[in-house]
Amino acid sequence: MEKYEKLEKVGEGTYGKVYKAKDRATGQLVALKKTRLEMDEEGVPPTALREVSLLQMLSQSLYVVRLLCVEHVDGSHKKKDGEGGGKPMLYLVFEYLDTDLKKFIDSHRKGPNPRPIPPSLVQSFLYQLCKGVAHCHSHGVLHRDLKPQNLLVDKEKGILKIADLGLGRAFTVPLKSYTHEIVTLWYRAPEVLLGSTHYSTGVDMWSVGCIFAEMVRRQALFPGDSEFQQLLHIFRLLGTPSEKQWPGVTSLRDWHVYPHWEPQNLARAVPSLGPDGVDLLSKMLKYDPAERISAKAALDHPYFDSLDKSQY
Ligand SMILES: Nc1ncnc2c1ncn2[C@@H]1O[C@H](COP(=O)(O)OP(=O)(O)O)[C@@H](O)[C@H]1O
Ligand SMILES: [Mg+2]
Repeated sequence: MEKYEKLEKVGEGTYGKVYKAKDRATGQLVALKKTRLEMDEEGVPPTALREVSLLQMLSQSLYVVRLLCVEHVDGSHKKKDGEGGGKPMLYLVFEYLDTDLKKFIDSHRKGPNPRPIPPSLVQSFLYQLCKGVAHCHSHGVLHRDLKPQNLLVDKEKGILKIADLGLGRAFTVPLKSYTHEIVTLWYRAPEVLLGSTHYSTGVDMWSVGCIFAEMVRRQALFPGDSEFQQLLHIFRLLGTPSEKQWPGVTSLRDWHVYPHWEPQNLARAVPSLGPDGVDLLSKMLKYDPAERISAKAALDHPYFDSLDKSQY
């Protein structure tokens, strides 16, 4: 790791810290992410190798954060102060982007200069997000934890990229992070909240819908603080789902009897969004995962008609 000059900590996620660093040889800024993939006497476990190559393949897309290389740190090296000699670890080295979408939205909501995110930028970010998601889905990979913190933004260039892909996703998303920070449920699809185990690409599209609404509102659409409250937030806006709307819903593992709510007008939840945007959002937030719009189909939705697609 002497190849890199560690600068500041930029994030603290589910499994460990992420550092901004500089490649001493090239001066390039990178993000160093320690993985929880530990090595044993046998070396790098095959599951880790498989995940790293998957990540490398997915990061061929412009809309997925680029994995530059993987550093294998042999834990036997002692530091100068005689400390260390820990377990061998894998570090992922990514291209560095200056912010994430959560921080970007926050900077538009509070601080010295609160202002809406320009509608054309919301449109462009959503298009790039759908491009990245379509790329992952076409390779048979679900992200499963799409949220503003996992989307990186280059403010100057107006670029958005998907991050935090693959590694760790082979297992279930934990409820608590390593710092005991509670993992957010705000972007979790209703079928996952209801205990479905056979979910698919629709789970990511639900998250995309929640993120779309949040860029417009600068506030989360469904800010639940428990799995139960999360469902109630969804039901209060979209109506309590029925067998008619969503065949099989009452047979899902965690289905209970819920209060009956009628669907509200979705446009009222995103007041500044035009009718095409509301239509696209409603298709991302369909209860029945089979009816939910795919990332690829979303790219052709009329909401994007006014976008200059040639630059993507
Ligand atoms: N390539 C990067 N460039 C800049 N910041 C990054 C980069 N990768 C991650 N971050 C920051 O670190 C945080 C945690 O990284 P992430 O990959 O999501 O890890 P975790 O699995 O721990 O959630 C992100 O929310 C983001 O703020
Ligand atoms: Mg993350």
